[in-house]
This record gives sequence, C-alpha cells and structure tokens, in this order.
Amino acid sequence: MDFQPVDRELAFVLPVVLISTISPQGVRNLAPYSNFTPLLRSTDMILLASWHRRDTLKNIRANGEFVVSVPHAEMADKIMPTAMHYPPEVDEFVQAGLEPRPSSLVAPPGVDGCLAWLECRLAKQYVEKSYVLVVGRVLRMEVEASVINERGGMDLDKARPLLASLDHEGVRWATATSLGKSDPYGAMFPGGHDPLAQRVGK
Ligand SMILES: Cc1cc2nc3c(=O)[nH]c(=O)nc-3n(C[C@H](O)[C@H](O)[C@H](O)COP(=O)(O)O)c2cc1C
Repeated sequence: MDFQPVDRELAFVLPVVLISTISPQGVRNLAPYSNFTPLLRSTDMILLASWHRRDTLKNIRANGEFVVSVPHAEMADKIMPTAMHYPPEVDEFVQAGLEPRPSSLVAPPGVDGCLAWLECRLAKQYVEKSYVLVVGRVLRMEVEASVINERGGMDLDKARPLLASLDHEGVRWATATSLGKSDPYGAMFPGGHDPLAQRVGK
C-alpha cells in the first residue's frame, strides 16, 4: 500500500518525552516532544526537533537549559494538557496538574512521577526557516530505581514507557514490552568485541 512521503511518521512508533524550560521572565513551561532521540550510543548528547513557534524552543535558546522527563503509560492523559497552546506567561505544570521535581544542575524542574529525568544544556543548533534541530548535552541523568533491572537497564514490563503512533486522525498511545530476547553489542563486530565498550558511560 502506497503512502505519501509526508506520512512517514505512520511507519514508526515514537517516544514521548516532556520537556521543561523556564522563560526569561521566570515562568515554567512544559511540552511533549516526540521528535526526540539520544544521539548515537556512548555519547552524552540528545537531539530534538522543534518548530520555531514553540515557547520551549524560545526558552532553550534564551537560557540554554532544559529537562527531559520520560513519562510512563499511565500518564497518557496528562500529555495533551501540556501540548495546549498557552501564552508564555501561563505555568503549564499548573495547567496540566503535574508536580515539579527539583533539578540539581539546571534551573528548570523535571516532572515528578516520571521514569527518568535528563538535565540538559544546549550544545548546538541547526536552524532552518521553520524549525530547529537542537543538540543538547546531558549534564545529569536519574532513573526511577524501581524500574531498573538486574542488567542495569530499564525493565520495560515494569516501566511501561509511553510511546505514540501517529496517524491521520491523531495520536494513538502505546507502550513497549520486552520480547525476552537480547544480544550483546559485541555481536556486531568480528571476535565479539565491542570497540565502544570502554567509552560507554563517559
Ligand atoms: C505527542 C506529541 C508530540 C509532539 N512532538 C513535538 C515535537 O517533536 N516537536 C514540536 O515542535 N512539537 C511537538 N508537539 C507539539 C507541542 O508539544 C505543542 O505545540 C506544545 O503546545 C508546545 O508548547 P510550547 O509552545 O509551550 O513549547 C508534540 C505534541 C504531542 C501531543
């Protein structure tokens, strides 16, 4: 079945994160982003894409700080209230009924009750006419201890991270489940040795 090239997000399940920032006037702002990814394994960088008209983008460009909070499936009802277009003077934590979680290294708070929190600083921008690719450096990251498994990773069945599948009618909320299978990174390389192994965590 053929689709239009602009429908490309139909082919993917996307992450959902909540990005918190603070305006130059000191107002807290919160918005969901799905155009978000960690940038390559074993770096401390993340990448997000934002339309220019977002307060989130304006705040990040104004003071360079933001927090990425990772919501779980039970928070699906909280996402749209944070996506509503409020004027910049409105505190979106209050509007969405979400509690702030103090950060250590940046001014914006994270969102309490999430799975993980990444305190970030703006590193680079790729500026296009209508959108910007924002590269951020993770200064500090915390993950909710109860969802860490014995491998030191996220127990998906416990965590139930929130995902989104986009179609012509809107956003369908989803989560991820484990297949119970895994492979070491070394399986990509002859001899089973992962050349990035010693850099992981730096
Ligand atoms: C699930 C979901 C994902 C979204 N992802 C993005 C995104 O990646 N980039 C973007 O610019 N807007 C995205 N949006 C739209 C913004 O969240 C929305 O316009 C929000 O009101 C922006 O708030 P702000 O102006 O306070 O930054 C998304 C909305 C939803 C519901």
